[in-house]
Amino acid sequence: MTASDDRRLRATQAWLEIALAEHASIPSFARFSIELVALGAPPDLLERSARAMEDEVRHTKMAFAIASRLAGKSLGPSAINVEGALVKQPEWREVCRSTLLDGCIGEGVATRQAEFGAARSGSPEAKGFWKTVAREEARHAELAWSFLEWAVQQKPELCGYLQRELDRKVESMGLWPSDLEDELADLMEFGILSRADLGRIAVESVAEDIIPRAREVFAPVLVG
Ligand SMILES: [Fe+2]
Ligand SMILES: [Fe+2]
Repeated sequence: MTASDDRRLRATQAWLEIALAEHASIPSFARFSIELVALGAPPDLLERSARAMEDEVRHTKMAFAIASRLAGKSLGPSAINVEGALVKQPEWREVCRSTLLDGCIGEGVATRQAEFGAARSGSPEAKGFWKTVAREEARHAELAWSFLEWAVQQKPELCGYLQRELDRKVESMGLWPSDLEDELADLMEFGILSRADLGRIAVESVAEDIIPRAREVFAPVLVG
């Protein structure tokens, strides 16, 4: 296998993983909608959750299209085991925690990573994907913050807990160790970010976007 074949193969695999992650995020919004209803959230949040689910379907289709083109054959999702995904009545603490981790942090970090992808991608198709994803993941992160703003008005006692969960998450995040091999390091021409860039951007996003925003959302409730 030539070096260029090897890079193309690794890029295909990386795009397939992106597509599968997007695919797995579709039912997260189905679940979030059920949780919103169960907690009595305002319809505006439900509307935004339904729209976010459509966004994730679009991201999934775009990423599979890129992976398929690189592979030279049609690629798509396989079955996912969702057993146990919805077994009990949603509970405030757990819904707030997962919204903070997956929504505020996960989608917030993904927004910045996508902006970087849009600015650096060598391929126009990948650039288009990252542009769309940057715009829409930003919206999903905003939905998560809107939910938490509403939730801590209902349950102010959760603020301390959520702040501690955020602190714990921040402590566990790190940069990609420079002595470890980064198998994505040379794939930017295919629109794939290196693990080092992904890690660095995640740390920046948490420090510059997420911690200050959490302070705005939790602090007034904590003081009041
Ligand atoms: Fe997405
Ligand atoms: Fe998203």
